[in-house]
Amino acid sequence: MRTETVDLGRRRSLGRALMLGAGIAGAVPLRAQKDAKAMSDQDILNFALNLEFLEAEYYTRGVTGRGLGAGGNVQGGSQVPFRNDEVREILTEIAENERAHVAYLRGVLGNKAIQYPAVDFVAGFREAGRLAGLGDDFNPFADELSFMLGGYLFEDVGVTAYKGAAALIDVGDILEAAAGILGVEGYHMGSLRWILYRRGERAHLTANAVSDARDALDGPMDLDQGVTTPGAQGTRANLVPADEFGRAFSRTPQQVLNIVYLTPQQNMNRGGFFPNGVNGAISRT
Ligand SMILES: [Fe+2]
Ligand SMILES: [Fe+2]
Repeated sequence: MRTETVDLGRRRSLGRALMLGAGIAGAVPLRAQKDAKAMSDQDILNFALNLEFLEAEYYTRGVTGRGLGAGGNVQGGSQVPFRNDEVREILTEIAENERAHVAYLRGVLGNKAIQYPAVDFVAGFREAGRLAGLGDDFNPFADELSFMLGGYLFEDVGVTAYKGAAALIDVGDILEAAAGILGVEGYHMGSLRWILYRRGERAHLTANAVSDARDALDGPMDLDQGVTTPGAQGTRANLVPADEFGRAFSRTPQQVLNIVYLTPQQNMNRGGFFPNGVNGAISRT
């Protein structure tokens, strides 16, 4: 694992040129193009560190009943009463990966790393549950199906966040590392989506409702897909959210923040899972 601090100041302008290029402009919201000019690789990695911290605390609390003990003010989370050993094993593996992502990003950022943000799983999931029509007191730590749903909420965001950030990263080593993390987030998401799919119609409807809630938060484009899609007879599996070219979707940092702040509003700097906002230069929707 590379943990040395790399030179984040070096510029490779291709990514930015692509973001601003006329050929791709139609696919990228105007505000993302504008904001992209001001983002350094350090800003992007610190943005990712907020999200990895959220994921690492979520899975670690659910699997072990304890937080990372790494600082940050984290509300909620308890050991999930798993009923299925295979599910517990997968979630344990995912928790290990998320802690490794946090450690990796901290290592690369060195003394430029952000302080961990305050995280509120209680208020965040209550609000997310309301938005997805799951009732007023959704608690993802209550049972293993709910825990997978909460993870699914975050994993799809992680995949699209790293995909969207790829066009903004200047340094080749950083881009390769981000691609490596993106791949792992895709494995996480695929594992959870498969288990949710196998759990029957109620799980499908709930997962699809969470997908619709994400789509309602992140702007008018359709960047999300549930675990089923209409088929010749009823529904069929839709385990891989992808565009017509078989590519994962991209979200801008602002769209990612719309989801984790649980608001469709622009220019917001806190809310949802982050009561004080995320830390670092990229913090507004
Ligand atoms: Fe991660
Ligand atoms: Fe993940």
